[in-house]
Amino acid sequence: MPRRRPARRIAILTAGGDCPGLNAVIRAAARTAWAAHGWEVFGVRNGAEGLLEPRGRGLRRLAPRDVAGILPRGGTILGASNRCDLYAVPDARGRPRDRSGAALALLRRRGIDALVVVGGDGSMRMAERLFRQGLAVVGVPKTIDNDVWGTDRTFGFDTAVEIVTQAIDRLYTTAESHHRVMLVEVMGRHSGFIALHAGLAGGAEVILLPEIPFDPRRIAAKVEARARRGRNYSIVVVAEGARAAGGHLVFREGDGGDELHSRLGGVSAEVADALRALTRLEVRHIVLGHVQRGGTPTAYDRMLASWMGQHAVSMLARDEGGAMVALHGTELRSVPLEAVVQGVRRVEVDGALVRAARQIGVSFAAADGGDDPPGPPGKPTR
Ligand code: F6P
Repeated sequence: MPRRRPARRIAILTAGGDCPGLNAVIRAAARTAWAAHGWEVFGVRNGAEGLLEPRGRGLRRLAPRDVAGILPRGGTILGASNRCDLYAVPDARGRPRDRSGAALALLRRRGIDALVVVGGDGSMRMAERLFRQGLAVVGVPKTIDNDVWGTDRTFGFDTAVEIVTQAIDRLYTTAESHHRVMLVEVMGRHSGFIALHAGLAGGAEVILLPEIPFDPRRIAAKVEARARRGRNYSIVVVAEGARAAGGHLVFREGDGGDELHSRLGGVSAEVADALRALTRLEVRHIVLGHVQRGGTPTAYDRMLASWMGQHAVSMLARDEGGAMVALHGTELRSVPLEAVVQGVRRVEVDGALVRAARQIGVSFAAADGGDDPPGPPGKPTR
């Protein structure tokens, strides 16, 4: 009797911060691996850190019951950490050390020869290096920011846009009652996709993007002009990575030098102060923060995450390691990781959506005066 070959073993790593749809990827990837290929599936606990846990405690064999009922749940059943880069793990004295060898050795000892890395741009950089060291790695692009290069969409983005849009809808009623300008600060790091899409969906008067340096005087002019037309309330969506021309990025942690330990946040407070000085209108700001990443994913994100999870495992089965699943139009393709890591995706400042928003009457308060055709009198944007 010929001896049965042991089943192939793969692992799933949810790297970086969490994001709605992660559980859908885990479920779809695991179910595809079991049903279509007869493989065994392991989950890595708490992001890349799990690969460095003593005695392999960060690896957990997944069974069908582990993924039952997780499709609509936000977060990740595996746990997350966005503070671990296997190539720069601080030692006892805080010096960065390359620990990738230990991670690869653990996977080898467990007979795991392939890894699905679900993550953002930083995680894709790590995935690409692991691939160059000989591991079969497939990436799945995840982030509410939608800033991963090479794909039209990341899952999680749709959910974040929905949450921000609902927040804008709620803020309008209180802004109108109190005749206030409300600034809504949203996430997205150095890309303005969340701000642009939710600002447009919510009918914001002004959207401040990282890609378009702004002039506070233009925001003031816009909301004042609107007030003169009888609409003495306005919504201004502020991307956390937006900055005034000649100004600085605002961080709530770090200063941007160390990407892993810097956190943007707080720019809306500065814009609010500037507006108070420039207008007679009452101004409030709110920072939506992590609420944008929490809770159940939208139907679209569940669908996209499930499809991408299935596709990632099919890529491994076809020996297409070293690549990331990417949505191009209405199809999933694979894009080489070495291309993905070249940069991040940003809003095109002359792109169709920005041009459309301008024609609708949205101001980006562009310091270079690139926008702001004066809105038709008596016709506010919302
Ligand atoms: O990349 C996703 C993201 O939510 C960014 O939009 C945001 O700047 C960052 O993560 C926040 O990170 P943390 O969860 O560490 O505060």
